[in-house]
Amino acid sequence: MIVSETPKHVAVIMDGNGRWAQQRGLPRLAGHEAGAKAIERCVQACLDTGVEYLTLYAFSSENWKRPALEVNGLMLLLEKFLNQKRDEMVREGIRLHHIGRRKELPAVCQRKLEEVMAATASNTRLHLVLAINYSGRTEIIDAVKSISRDVAAGLLREDDITPEIFDARLDTAGIPDPDLLIRTSGEMRISNFLLWQLSYTEIHVTKKFWPEFEKADFLAALEDFQSRSRRFGGV
Ligand code: FPP
Repeated sequence: MIVSETPKHVAVIMDGNGRWAQQRGLPRLAGHEAGAKAIERCVQACLDTGVEYLTLYAFSSENWKRPALEVNGLMLLLEKFLNQKRDEMVREGIRLHHIGRRKELPAVCQRKLEEVMAATASNTRLHLVLAINYSGRTEIIDAVKSISRDVAAGLLREDDITPEIFDARLDTAGIPDPDLLIRTSGEMRISNFLLWQLSYTEIHVTKKFWPEFEKADFLAALEDFQSRSRRFGGV
């Protein structure tokens, strides 16, 4: 069956900030700053098209390996983004979620995320899910540990473990699986992002670097999605 509807959940691997900056002779952080502007456009495109969930891969657990200057700059950018966007999110009906290991983030980022999540908790128009210090494998291992503890304590029987029970232990509990994954900068990889949740997700890759990603590119991705035949393993 060809899908004609708008995807409910779009996930994005925002790649190419560094290369975008390098091409212009700018520091990598300038690429991330331009990337933050692209996030604003992408959020607006979701509001305009009725996409209900937008998940953005903003910082992977592997990104700590980058130079301290870049890591610190990204954390500052996140803090600035949350400070600047808080009121707009409240007003526009956007609910903020975080996935990833929050406790390992700088205290100020933890506090900001928690503050904006609390301030937007009753919003439902668009769920903005930021993956920060996120690793799909770690998320799965944490879920396995949580289930193992309950089995050992006699709270859960091994035979009762289902995909739904597993889902509920993930950071994304309560969030539907992505319908569409967009990756920029032409790379054909999942890069440890939402490994469980992407099982049946349609993938759209564009060669554009993330800072160049415009509303028209988002619309092209939706159009591509709508031309796909989704069978979920059936015929
Ligand atoms: C990938 O490009 C991008 C990142 C690792 C960070 C994404 C962050 C932002 C878009 C801005 C800050 C986030 C928020 C939420 C305000 P890359 O650096 O890996 O690019 P490269 O592959 O060209 O080096």
